[in-house]
Amino acid sequence: MQTVTTVAELRAAIKIWRQQGERIAFVPTMGNLHAGHLRLVTVAKQHAERVVVSIFVNPSQFGVGEDFASYPRTEAQDQAQLHSVGADLLFLPGVADIYAADAKTTVNVHGLSELYCGAFRPGHFSGVATVVCKLFNCVQADVAVFGQKDFQQLAVIKTMVRDLHIPIDIIGVATVREASGLAMSSRNGYLSAAETALAAHLYQTLSSTREAILAGNRAYPALEQQATHSLQTLGFKVDYFTVCRSVDLAAAQVDDIDLVILTAARLGKTRLIDNLEITLPPPAQSLSNATKEATDAPQAHLKS
Ligand code: PAJ
Repeated sequence: MQTVTTVAELRAAIKIWRQQGERIAFVPTMGNLHAGHLRLVTVAKQHAERVVVSIFVNPSQFGVGEDFASYPRTEAQDQAQLHSVGADLLFLPGVADIYAADAKTTVNVHGLSELYCGAFRPGHFSGVATVVCKLFNCVQADVAVFGQKDFQQLAVIKTMVRDLHIPIDIIGVATVREASGLAMSSRNGYLSAAETALAAHLYQTLSSTREAILAGNRAYPALEQQATHSLQTLGFKVDYFTVCRSVDLAAAQVDDIDLVILTAARLGKTRLIDNLEITLPPPAQSLSNATKEATDAPQAHLKS
């Protein structure tokens, strides 16, 4: 695996592959890689001859007082892991390679960026959209692979790609979890042993809420309150726990079919995010007809 730090070196390496007619897949990351990131690389390899991975801790997506300075930087270890899963090229730029000192352009996916995580991290999704757009322009891959763990981020990126006509296919990959159910995250390293044990309750609460919905409970606000309360009782500070429509992340209505439960909660100084998708069976035409007939029948009988 080759490692490059400048956009010029990156473009030179990619040009050779393009001349050979090879397809390129791209996996953007902020490093401190774990099995979730490596799974994205494995999926990327199924879609292209060459896989480019970037490691860039993007300052513009961190708010004031957030963990930009302390974000774990483990480049040597990351490089070895990427090599072992067969990545072809690692792009490891510095901040000045990505942001000109007098840069004047940002990308904003309005609306979607202000919901949920965006409400608690103002400017975060603009930072994400801007850096991902820049990285897409640097790599010019055929396909890019993202984790569904960051469900709202994936929605922001898909919307940006559609709205800006960026010629790239976006692939979402299912969340890779610890045996406890805890979603793997570079930030899990901030958790103490006791917090790590507690953290698995986030997934358990998502799962029990999903079970309730699958069993027919459509009282979404009540389910959200119940889940928030039980997480708070365990010691979480809950930013949000919400049942949404997966298509646009609007609050779910009783007749929506494709749902996602999104949550973010803090344990000590660590902010955890997770989600679970749910596809409800569509209201069967025959069933609703049958129900209608059953309701009509006694009246018909009474009339006769
Ligand atoms: P980072 O948190 O390093 O994540 C990089 C990619 O790995 C994202 O697509 C994320 O969704 C995915 N990922 C993280 N944990 C995962 C897990 N447990 N299972 C599956 N995929 C997982 O997300 C970012 O970096 C940044 O915002 C970035 C997109 C690189 C822009 O700076």
